[in-house]
Amino acid sequence: MDLSALIALTLLLGALIILVAFAVSKRRKEIGEEAAQEAEFAAEANAVKGPAPKKQKQEKQRNRKDKASQHSFSHPLLAASLKAHGGNVTCIDFSSNGKYLASCSDDRTVRIWSTKDFLEREHKSLRANVELDHATLVRFSPDSRAFITWLDYGDTIRVFKMIKKDDGTFTFKAAAEDFPKKHIAPILNIGIAETGKFIMSASTDTNIHIWDLRGEILASINTNQMNNSYAAISPCGRFVASCGFTPDVKVWEICFTKDKVFKEVVRAFDLKGHSAGVHAFAFSNDSHRMVTVSKDGTWKLWNTDVEYKKQQDPYLLRTVPCASSEGSLAALSPDGRVVAISNGCNVALYNATTGELEEEMTNVHSEEIADLRFDTTGRFLVSCGDKAIRVFHNAPGYRATIRDMQDMLKKAQNEGMKQRLQKQIKEAQSALDAVLAAPVH
Ligand SMILES: *[C@@H]1O[C@H](CO)[C@@H](O)[C@H](O)[C@H]1NC(C)=O
Ligand SMILES: *[C@@H]1O[C@H](CO)[C@@H](O)[C@H](O)[C@H]1NC(C)=O
Ligand SMILES: *[C@@H]1O[C@H](CO)[C@@H](O)[C@H](O)[C@H]1NC(C)=O
Ligand SMILES: *[C@@H]1O[C@H](CO)[C@@H](O)[C@H](O)[C@H]1NC(C)=O
Repeated sequence: MDLSALIALTLLLGALIILVAFAVSKRRKEIGEEAAQEAEFAAEANAVKGPAPKKQKQEKQRNRKDKASQHSFSHPLLAASLKAHGGNVTCIDFSSNGKYLASCSDDRTVRIWSTKDFLEREHKSLRANVELDHATLVRFSPDSRAFITWLDYGDTIRVFKMIKKDDGTFTFKAAAEDFPKKHIAPILNIGIAETGKFIMSASTDTNIHIWDLRGEILASINTNQMNNSYAAISPCGRFVASCGFTPDVKVWEICFTKDKVFKEVVRAFDLKGHSAGVHAFAFSNDSHRMVTVSKDGTWKLWNTDVEYKKQQDPYLLRTVPCASSEGSLAALSPDGRVVAISNGCNVALYNATTGELEEEMTNVHSEEIADLRFDTTGRFLVSCGDKAIRVFHNAPGYRATIRDMQDMLKKAQNEGMKQRLQKQIKEAQSALDAVLAAPVH
């Protein structure tokens, strides 16, 4: 196939996928509003430019060489492989506005990708250099205008501001001072609360520190779990949870006064039910569901939409056998309907409601999967491990959306509504068919 045909195909696919996105978005917006948003996204994508044209040839040659030595992988659901890092990618994070993906690597850079580019042939990224060190973790601030990193040698947090230039691209500026060094054991995870009120860092001993945004410690939590294996802030920004050697997942509320002054950390609730240590967990977007993956060979889905102050306990919705190992990760689609579990270099996707295994991806990376998460719309699942970042279509999510529309069609009363649904179902189905039939690149 020649290049222009390929580009035409890619554009066509992109257009089809946008149809799925339309169907997925439940809030039915005015068409004008959608168009305005599309235009904004396009402008943003144009703004996120890669290297200057002069350097491109050089870069291309290097990429070609890199590719040859890179792990080759293909899968019908693979939407893109993002390649620019020269070392293993250890962490990825989506900005809350959904526009950017940040990735960090031992090549001493953090890269910011435009999510609008995922289905295009070229994936441009902006590079932030981490001077005299490299970042092992990266997390966006809630306003998508800054990110925090964990420094590998520095053993602490460095804040970077993203400053928009006149031409729409960004420059990156590190804060004058890094946070003080407070962890002794190796770091597990960091996060910034969506409320903007605190930062969290957790290490492999039993320590979690809660910081203010300037790097003062507000509180320290001893998890009493022998060793922490994972910790994270809930997407609502209210809770911090941790898991480890002991079978219970513990959840704390980080409490602030009405004037946003830190008050206290209180034990909120536990997830009790696994029979062995828990490798990792994940929240749904509204923090009402959690998925946990354990050494006991299962994942569990929990309803955490409870009033713990009224002594309500979260309840177990489902237990499903799965392959897992030390370092396994879990991800939950924003709507809580699709569960992803990593095991070494493999990923499995499950229907969260029935527990049915929907998709399996093996040897996704040449290294163990280091991070796994759904994008903010739930259209994509993204993983990292080696130098490449893999972006997958969330096909179970697409299928569930089509089923939802079919159910709505059955209940629909008026003819106009029926016709509109029939049309949407047809479009979504053909978009899904196109995804599955597309050549893998
Ligand atoms: C990173 O990549 C190199 C090869 O590029 C590999 O030898 C190494 O084991 C990888 N993993 C880690 C955790 O550094
Ligand atoms: C477990 O915690 C201890 C300190 O409590 C630490 O020295 C050790 O490295 C941790 N083990 C692992 C596997 O992280
Ligand atoms: C996720 O939550 C945020 C804020 O809580 C909301 O704006 C967004 O629409 C949610 N996304 C999905 C896919 O539910
Ligand atoms: C899970 O299965 C149920 C029952 O078959 C179905 O209604 C639902 O759409 C499925 N969800 C996903 C995400 O596949």
